[in-house]
Amino acid sequence: MKKFYFHNSTKIYFGEDEVNRVGKLSKEFGSKVLLVYGKGSIKRTGLYDRIIKLLEVEDIKVFELGGIDPNPRIESIREGGDLCKKHNIDLVLGVGGGSVIDAAKGIASAALYDGDPWDFYSHKVESKGALPIASVLTLAATGSEMNPWSVVTNFKTKDKNGWGSAYTYPKFSILDPTLTYSVSYHQTGCGIVDILTHVYEFYFSKEDSYLNNRMCEAIMKTVIHYGPIALKDPNNYEARANLMFSSTLALNGSVGFSNSWEGFNHTTEHVLSAFYDIAHGDGLSILGPHWMKHILDENNVEKFYEFAVNVWGIEPDEDHAYVASKGISAVFDFYRSIEMPLRLKDVDIIDPDLDEIVNKAVSGETIGSFVKLTKEDVKHILMFSL
Ligand code: NZQ
Ligand code: ZN
Repeated sequence: MKKFYFHNSTKIYFGEDEVNRVGKLSKEFGSKVLLVYGKGSIKRTGLYDRIIKLLEVEDIKVFELGGIDPNPRIESIREGGDLCKKHNIDLVLGVGGGSVIDAAKGIASAALYDGDPWDFYSHKVESKGALPIASVLTLAATGSEMNPWSVVTNFKTKDKNGWGSAYTYPKFSILDPTLTYSVSYHQTGCGIVDILTHVYEFYFSKEDSYLNNRMCEAIMKTVIHYGPIALKDPNNYEARANLMFSSTLALNGSVGFSNSWEGFNHTTEHVLSAFYDIAHGDGLSILGPHWMKHILDENNVEKFYEFAVNVWGIEPDEDHAYVASKGISAVFDFYRSIEMPLRLKDVDIIDPDLDEIVNKAVSGETIGSFVKLTKEDVKHILMFSL
């Protein structure tokens, strides 16, 4: 196991009706809250009214920034930052999925910065602080509820960049699985694929720590077990609860403490989203299985064998290469069975400029840490994904 430093400052309140704490918890940070939310799901489910009441009971004045897009835009971060400055906001509260929580982090940082917040996302300047951030999670997918990361798109420059700072951990996040009952079939599927990808981007790692690997397997097995149950029965509490905390554990440092991050899938997906504004989970679903198929060789066959047997329940066999490839087929089959896309054309990306995508994704010589891929490799994977 390699050396590591682990710190995560976010408090988690998990369970049905834990959202009722939002007023009291928010009040600890002051009496002016900027409520950040998406395109309307929280109004349709009644969560918006519930939260406004809970905040107002505590004499909190609520300012609002709704309309955050899936794949949040830098323009929203600028607008939110200005609102915080104008109204002397004490806490930025994101209520929604990863897009909303990511936006809340950018906004809270922009509030204490005089320049353009894109400077953070383009890694031009280091953030020197942020207003306190908190979240009420409504979609199990990104892990944003318990990590410092924020992923924002600048569609003018076709850049979707991830960034985070020591100041952008939410102070608290409320995880009430019943708030995810209303998530659509497709978004639930996107969440399932996102969680799995977060985990396998740590599982396929050169460090190969035993404990880290077993923790990864536990999360992947949980998601493979409960994902289809949640899809079939959206109000199944155990299924939604297991998916929800799996999403948190997948990207809060718990499975990235010793194994290093692979990176190909997320980096390339962010380029696809920046070019075509597709859902993050759709892009990952297209890339992941084709990436596995491309990288499998005699150097990593034992790792794929372990993946096939321990995660997908493939029968052990002396022929490890055969079992390994059956494991990859199981990923294709699982994604197909939950109606997730496996080809770019499934998300209406027809005749893409592959060189443009490849050049944006591979900024240096290679991409990926488990297997270093050249531009030619990446183009090959994309061609098989057409
Ligand atoms: O906008 P509203 O109306 O809220 O609807 C959203 C949106 O249309 C809807 N939704 C959310 N909760 C719902 C619901 N609909 C019904 N009932 C509910 N309870 O779902 C749609 C997608 O929401 P979004 O927040 O975009 O999804 P997700 O949580 O998957 O977040 C995706 C974003 O997070 C980034 C992605 O790149 C993408 O921009 N990521 C953030 C990461 C992080 N911060 O650590 C890591 C990830 O790898 C990822 O890159
Ligand atoms: Zn992701």
